[in-house]
Amino acid sequence: MNNFIFENATKTYFGKGCVKEYLASLADPYGDTVMLAYGGGSIKRNGVYDEVREILEEAGKTVVEFPGIMANPTYEKVLEGAKLAKETGASLLLGVGGGSVMDCCKAISIAARFGQDAWDNFWARPGVFNFEPLPLGVIVTVTGTGSEMNGGAVITNEEKKIKTGRDYPACNPRFALLDATYTYTVPKFQMVSGGFDILSHIMETYFSKPDEDNVSDDISEALMRSTIRNLRLAIENPEDYTARSNLMWDSTMAENRIIKLGKQMDFECHQMEHQLGAYTNCNHGAGLAVLHPVYYRHIYRDGLAKFKKFAVNVWGISAEGKTDEELALTGIEALEDFIKEIGLPTTLRELGIDENVDLKAIADSCNLVSGSYRKMTHEEILEIFQECL
Ligand code: NZQ
Ligand code: ZN
Repeated sequence: MNNFIFENATKTYFGKGCVKEYLASLADPYGDTVMLAYGGGSIKRNGVYDEVREILEEAGKTVVEFPGIMANPTYEKVLEGAKLAKETGASLLLGVGGGSVMDCCKAISIAARFGQDAWDNFWARPGVFNFEPLPLGVIVTVTGTGSEMNGGAVITNEEKKIKTGRDYPACNPRFALLDATYTYTVPKFQMVSGGFDILSHIMETYFSKPDEDNVSDDISEALMRSTIRNLRLAIENPEDYTARSNLMWDSTMAENRIIKLGKQMDFECHQMEHQLGAYTNCNHGAGLAVLHPVYYRHIYRDGLAKFKKFAVNVWGISAEGKTDEELALTGIEALEDFIKEIGLPTTLRELGIDENVDLKAIADSCNLVSGSYRKMTHEEILEIFQECL
């Protein structure tokens, strides 16, 4: 294990009925005005909005609404939210939704209290900051990003064509409420896309050094098996509480920093997908599904020992009669078969991205990370994009 320091400031409430039971007391210490932020309206259709609003009103809160947070939230939307928070004197930001709502809220919580331009002096220039963001609480309605228990937020600057994420511990939500029954109404495509995002977060962490025995990789293998098993069950029966609740916690565990302890981490696929998203607004999990198998065929020789373990310990493939390379490739093939089985795309074309899109510009705009088994070049990323077409 490499050295690490660990803290997670989010108090997490998990289980059926947790919003009803805890929301009022959790909101209590944060003043009178709650800014209730949400997406395009799914919470109005499935009853979550009514439930939350009633609890806040009964608790005597003034509720200011901030609806319409889009998938892949934009910096423009962040500024709109920050302005509203300042004008109304909101004392608590409550995000109800998925990664897009939670990330937008984290960025609002900074922009509402940051005296300077939050893009130029924050998102584009990461560093330590020493001010308290506006307090944030979240209620999760779709699993995948794990944003509920970390300080990370991914924001798209449409004008600059950059989608970028930062993780600041001060942005961890003060509290997170996770009731898996809230996810029953998530449409199948979004559910599997979120499911693949979970798997991607784990793989991006697992496929990195150290390779010697370490507990973080062991937890990752268990989480990958759980995600695969429970995603299959939730596809069969969207109201399978056991499957949905396992997926919900798999998602949180993948991104609450626990499996990252002592690890280097890769996340080059995320860099590539974020830039595809910045240029084309494609769905996050679906973009990752297209990229992962192709990317792994590029790097597996550099991390052969881990790719062999992945085949055997995650997919249950027998090593017998296979060379090391064959075993590693069989694991990647199993991943690709799973992507097809759950109905996610395996080509960029299926995401609506073809030769008319300037793939070179996208490849050139990708960050090159240093924690992967082999550092990418912009030329190799372009090759990967072209192989994904
Ligand atoms: O907008 P509404 O109407 O609410 O509909 C949403 C949206 O269309 C719908 N939905 C959510 N809960 C629902 C529901 N529909 C029916 N029933 C429910 N209970 O789901 C759709 C997608 O929501 P979104 O929040 O966009 O999805 P996701 O959670 O996948 O978030 C994606 C964003 O998070 C970023 C991604 O890049 C992307 O911008 N990420 C954030 C990370 C983080 N902060 O740690 C890490 C990730 O790697 C990722 O980059
Ligand atoms: Zn992701």
